[in-house]
Amino acid sequence: MIEELVLNNGVTMPALGLGVFQSPPEETADAVEAALKVGYRHIDTAAAYGNERQVGEGLRRSGVDRGDVFIETKVWVSDYGYDQTLHAFDKAARKLGVDQIDQLILHQPAPDRFDRTVAAYKGLEKLLADGKVRSIGVSNFMRHHLDDLLARTDVVPAVNQIELHPYFTQPDVQKADAEHAILTQAWSPIGGITFYPGFGEERKNVLEDAVIGAIAAGYGKTPAQVMLRWQLQRGRSAIPKSTNPGRIAENFDVFDFELTGDQLAAIDALDTGVRNGPDPDVPRPAMFDRVIPED
Ligand code: A2P
Repeated sequence: MIEELVLNNGVTMPALGLGVFQSPPEETADAVEAALKVGYRHIDTAAAYGNERQVGEGLRRSGVDRGDVFIETKVWVSDYGYDQTLHAFDKAARKLGVDQIDQLILHQPAPDRFDRTVAAYKGLEKLLADGKVRSIGVSNFMRHHLDDLLARTDVVPAVNQIELHPYFTQPDVQKADAEHAILTQAWSPIGGITFYPGFGEERKNVLEDAVIGAIAAGYGKTPAQVMLRWQLQRGRSAIPKSTNPGRIAENFDVFDFELTGDQLAAIDALDTGVRNGPDPDVPRPAMFDRVIPED
């Protein structure tokens, strides 16, 4: 079963996708192929992940029709600007081996160089008008970034992909998205960012949360499956990352049970308000030095 969401421009998108953030290129094609074989029809990647080529390879190897798979990727900040973003599409499409991209989004708001962000978004609008992409959106935008973007552009983003797991749910961003009919999409939907090395000390691993563990035990499901169910029942898209075939299958096996309203609320209540990933408002000039290769 594939649960689909209708975007604000009428395009449908499978709610659950495979994420490939930090998937090493040499493992990505296998992961994508494994995912498509167990039923996933949505893959989320990014120019900055350095594995778009392997996403395309996994897609072709799977034998699943290109037209049946929703491919989402992201423009990196060093390619922001109008012409640069048009060219970023060419680079991504070439690496993925596709003519059209289902969803192309801006990876970061980069508020310290927001004029370039706006120009990049206008590039996305042009790609949409030309039929090169089927939907456009943003990632890591907070309410004020959305307000600034909406004031200067025409097409409301279809999606806003943000850090969102039980320990960090960003209710104000979700509210802002909903006010504009922007779909909230969860990155790190099972909280990988709460235990990935290199993102700070003293984090608590949400996969080990007692409340989630108790709910999972009641259904004979895993904590990851409960979190994904919570994401989907709250109307969000989620893109769990795994390169392990067993966990890829596990994360898709979430359509045979349903959480109660009380259980959803109990998971909502775990929010700490503390971000685990980078703060989009803190300038990181080194981001702009990272060049996305042509091939
Ligand atoms: P792996 O790729 O070895 O499976 P997120 O998408 O929330 O950031 O989470 C990704 C992290 O969670 C990765 O470290 C991934 O490792 C791990 N992971 C993915 N699926 C599961 C699962 N079902 N149970 C436990 N860990 C998982």
